[in-house]
Amino acid sequence: MNVLILGGDGYLGWPTAMRFASNGHQVTVVDNYLKRTLAKQNKSQALIPTPDLLERARIFQSLTNHQIDVIIEDCTNPTALNEIVQRCRPEVLIHYAEQPSGPYSMRGFEEAQVTFNNNIHTTFNVIWSVIKHAPDCHIIKLGTMGEYGTPNIDIEEGWIDIHHRGRTDKFLYPRQGATLYHTTKIMDTDLLWFYVRTYGLKVTDLMQGPVYGLITEESLLDDRLLTNFHYDDLFGTVLNRFIVQAVAGIPLTLYGSGGQTRGFLNIKDTLQCLELAAAQPVERGDLRILNQFTEQFSVRQLAEQVRTAARSSGYQTEIQTIKNPRKEMDSHYFNAAHQGLLDMGLKPHLLTTEIISEMISVIAKYQDRIDHSKVMPRFSYS
Ligand SMILES: NC(=O)c1ccc[n+]([C@@H]2O[C@H](COP(=O)([O-])OP(=O)(O)OC[C@H]3O[C@@H](n4cnc5c(N)ncnc54)[C@H](O)[C@@H]3O)[C@@H](O)[C@H]2O)c1
Repeated sequence: MNVLILGGDGYLGWPTAMRFASNGHQVTVVDNYLKRTLAKQNKSQALIPTPDLLERARIFQSLTNHQIDVIIEDCTNPTALNEIVQRCRPEVLIHYAEQPSGPYSMRGFEEAQVTFNNNIHTTFNVIWSVIKHAPDCHIIKLGTMGEYGTPNIDIEEGWIDIHHRGRTDKFLYPRQGATLYHTTKIMDTDLLWFYVRTYGLKVTDLMQGPVYGLITEESLLDDRLLTNFHYDDLFGTVLNRFIVQAVAGIPLTLYGSGGQTRGFLNIKDTLQCLELAAAQPVERGDLRILNQFTEQFSVRQLAEQVRTAARSSGYQTEIQTIKNPRKEMDSHYFNAAHQGLLDMGLKPHLLTTEIISEMISVIAKYQDRIDHSKVMPRFSYS
């Protein structure tokens, strides 16, 4: 397949590019280094120094003979994205190119504006470039489980049947994000659904939970192919942060009681899900929504699992509770469906002591680069 990946320098984009190229697909990646820029501005640089995208593609090709074409461009520029889509004529377009941090989006006006403008415009431009130049292209868009929020009822996969005053209809499941970032993802879904209904686009919207891990088949070839791994308060997802804290000897910090429950998945399973979604496209006029996670945990349960694994690897890890810097419920009902990807063939890599220990051993190599001042919350919006 001819695959165009937007956001190909990112935590998920780069491993996805290597995986699709390894599987023999023709891969083009686009990125404008927004994440690297924001990370630098906020003193939130990734733990592991990674070469730029052109250099990574060169290293990958020298080791595997698989080519990844790189375009450094801003997807909020409609002219540029139109030209790229017109030139590539992708059969699959994977859209990762967004500002993905909830806390960053809540920091202040400028951060909110960057998040809002970037995320809405990249999605809008994707839609129009596909309508104009590749109407049969299957758009695979990364949404987030955070679009649903934490409702006091079971979460379905994207849709819900509503019975109202004796009549029934099917609607997008009600969504209520806890941050502006999550709200932009809700707006993305609404935009996609509108254009699916009116222009017959083919879209899969993957409602993904927080991802953990950094090891993939391809990264094992050379550490320079590892992904951009963030562990700070703004850009680090919770399990990645806990593992860095364990290695650095910093207590694992629970925000409030640590009762926040979410659906998590290993980065290896993100890659599987993308492969499955791409291999099983939808028809024109279909919006398929899949909840992309493999296991539900509370943050406290995660911390306890990391403590157990870290102790077995020789780290004296403690758990500490701090005031929640975020506005969110830390004790709530959470029960989300996630059958669709399993039915499509997903074979989950579940969280085990061995998986955590494997991550600890990679992170330990970069222990000297851990900046303790970045791990604890640097601002609050509670
Ligand atoms: N990582 C997770 O745990 C997680 C969970 C749920 C959903 N997601 C979603 O998955 C997607 C990828 O997340 P990630 O963790 O890889 O984030 P990331 O920030 O590491 O990757 C996104 C990439 O897109 C690029 N980008 C952003 N705006 C761009 C633009 N205008 N033009 C070109 N490139 C642009 C960034 O520079 C970055 O390299 C995001 O949409 C995110 O919302 C991620």
